[in-house]
Amino acid sequence: MVHNGIIENFQKLRKDLSQVGHELDSETDTEVIVHLIDRFLEEGFSPREATAEALKLLEGAFALAIIFAGDEDLMIGARRGSPLALGVGVNQMFLGSDAIALAPLTKNLIYLEDGDWTVLSHNDYIIFDENGQEVERDVCRTALTGASVEKGGHQYFMLKEIFEQPQVIGDTLHAFVNPNTGAVTLPSLDVDVMQASRLTLIACGTSYYACLVAKFWLERIARIPTEVDIASEFRYREGIMPDGGVAIFISQSGETIDTLAALRYARSQGQKIVSVVNVPESAIARESDLVLQTYAGPEIGVASTKAFTTQLTVLACLTLTLAYNRGTIDKLERRRLAHALVEVPARAAEILNHDERIKEIAQFVAGARDVLYLGRGTSYPIALEGALKLKEISYIHAEGYAAGEMKHGPIALIDKTVPVVVVSPTDFLLEKTISNVQEVMARGGKVIFFSDKRGADKLGSKDAENVILPSVDPFVSPILYTIPVQLLAYHTAVLKGTDVDRPRNLAKSVTVE
Ligand code: G6P
Repeated sequence: MVHNGIIENFQKLRKDLSQVGHELDSETDTEVIVHLIDRFLEEGFSPREATAEALKLLEGAFALAIIFAGDEDLMIGARRGSPLALGVGVNQMFLGSDAIALAPLTKNLIYLEDGDWTVLSHNDYIIFDENGQEVERDVCRTALTGASVEKGGHQYFMLKEIFEQPQVIGDTLHAFVNPNTGAVTLPSLDVDVMQASRLTLIACGTSYYACLVAKFWLERIARIPTEVDIASEFRYREGIMPDGGVAIFISQSGETIDTLAALRYARSQGQKIVSVVNVPESAIARESDLVLQTYAGPEIGVASTKAFTTQLTVLACLTLTLAYNRGTIDKLERRRLAHALVEVPARAAEILNHDERIKEIAQFVAGARDVLYLGRGTSYPIALEGALKLKEISYIHAEGYAAGEMKHGPIALIDKTVPVVVVSPTDFLLEKTISNVQEVMARGGKVIFFSDKRGADKLGSKDAENVILPSVDPFVSPILYTIPVQLLAYHTAVLKGTDVDRPRNLAKSVTVE
């Protein structure tokens, strides 16, 4: 049996099982499920009935795939909370958590609904809903191909996905922007979003940092009051949500359980639900009033890369639409900003040419115990993202800080052993950031300075490790400055010999609380 998720009442079930003579070998909740089914089999139930009985007793969020000794023509799948899809092949059936897992095997997929369970043989399948009623579910054709989920000559999926960014940002822009007029078309964006009194943006992990960038854009450019929160905090706070409010949920997978629970809370508070997701068939997409898709393609590396930059791309498009419709920018300004967006794929490709230089710098980072990342404005979330990437895949402790806040604590950490990575494109905050960098250097800190020619000249230091990136419009700098921090984390992790695509203790899709 394969089991994703958590059985919340497994201690009690375990006790009940031991009272009827079932000795368990491990402490896991997974083993409890197998014994539970076994217990019903012993009572004379068929495998299908035994599984149905066991499912009634399980509490929690999980997905299961079960095979039975002695019956090679039977597999049972069940989902509650965690995702599960059924792949329909020719003379063969498959179970997997999503299209990515199943795409190399078949294009015909059925996304099971919450509470569904299914009985499969080589040639057939039956689906039951949570009440045990036989139900029909649609068969979808996935657009994914086996090739789109292979490494394409790269050592790791993560590197492949970093290098795909010019392409997928372009694909995402294609869906929303008219490059000639600068007009941005969002799919059936209804009037509620335009007139919303307040936006609330919610997500987890890297997707949460996309919310932070969007807050800056939405407030500064579209002048809309915007709140952001981490889903696992927001959902328990019972926050006050405004009448006519719109809540936007950002998720690569569309299955993150905390984000989904936050979405359901927002809905219960009468909010319109918009989601920015990479998987259009996902639970979060299905429960939204409006889905803005990122066209990142399948992201396999656990540490998110291209999903993040395409999320930013969609949020930038949303900002332009709202700003224009609310009259905070005119046609000319919209065209100027849209033009900057349209240039992002080409600038991203240029930035990828700095890969070798960043690899050299990674040698220094790989030897560090702690690394500090600094930025201001939209570069602050990118500093947070850089730090998260580094800790996720290299296991080096890293912290992202708002550069102006450094003097309130982290400055005490600065010495020559702590690399300080500074994300500092030319924008109205450049000089402020540079004065923070000077404070670091005055204390012997080793600075890695991601900026453009103007920024490097202004800093004017030979002691800093400068990475001179193309000069870009400040509006799009957070999208582009993400790439060097991704590459720095990647090369550092490779030097440390970690499993870059599957870092320890982390999961791609977090469907447990
Ligand atoms: C996991 C992944 C992160 C991701 C987060 C949110 O922790 O390892 O890379 O940012 O989940 O995932 P989502 O699919 O909701 O964007």
